[in-house]
Amino acid sequence: MTEIDVKKLSLDVVDLWMKRWLLLTAGTRDDCNMMTVAWGSVGCMWAKPFAQVVVRPQRHTRGYMDKMDSFTLCAFPEAHRKDLQTMGTTSGRDGDKLALTGLTLTESSKVPAPSYKEADLILECRTIYYQDMDPAGFVDASIQKNYPADDYHRIYYGEIVAAFAD
Ligand SMILES: Cc1cc2nc3c(=O)[nH]c(=O)nc-3n(C[C@H](O)[C@H](O)[C@H](O)COP(=O)(O)O)c2cc1C
Repeated sequence: MTEIDVKKLSLDVVDLWMKRWLLLTAGTRDDCNMMTVAWGSVGCMWAKPFAQVVVRPQRHTRGYMDKMDSFTLCAFPEAHRKDLQTMGTTSGRDGDKLALTGLTLTESSKVPAPSYKEADLILECRTIYYQDMDPAGFVDASIQKNYPADDYHRIYYGEIVAAFAD
């Protein structure tokens, strides 16, 4: 993995989120939780490179996002597709889901939230802002169909403080 200057970060973002998916991890190396995410963005806000993720209230990862002020986003080679499916369909609330995968935690370089040895892209983020999604803002009323249980996402912005790619 090579460290990339975050100000020069260039990603195929739509493909990354829609097709490859990312693993969101919050907490520390010794006490963390992770979940697959496919909705989010990478861009510039308040003159900082940032990544934005959305997390529903019932996710176990949500408690770690709210307790700690960092998270990582990791992408993996296609061989780990099944692991991302596992991380996106089982909850850390019910047991050690990491043990169900071939993924190995490793320390990140600048944030407490850990990364993975198998990742081919790592974005280390310092949480700088969050906001609960307000359905009053659904200009396109069809967005509501994503929330039959009214479980609106919490939106988190993380300044990207370090990035590594294969
Ligand atoms: C491809 C994919 C994308 C997902 N994207 C999101 C997302 O952006 N936000 C979210 O809250 N849940 C998302 N999920 C669901 C969580 O990953 C899933 O509920 C997970 O089991 C939560 O784990 P946890 O309870 O251990 O946090 C996604 C699931 C999959 C399979």
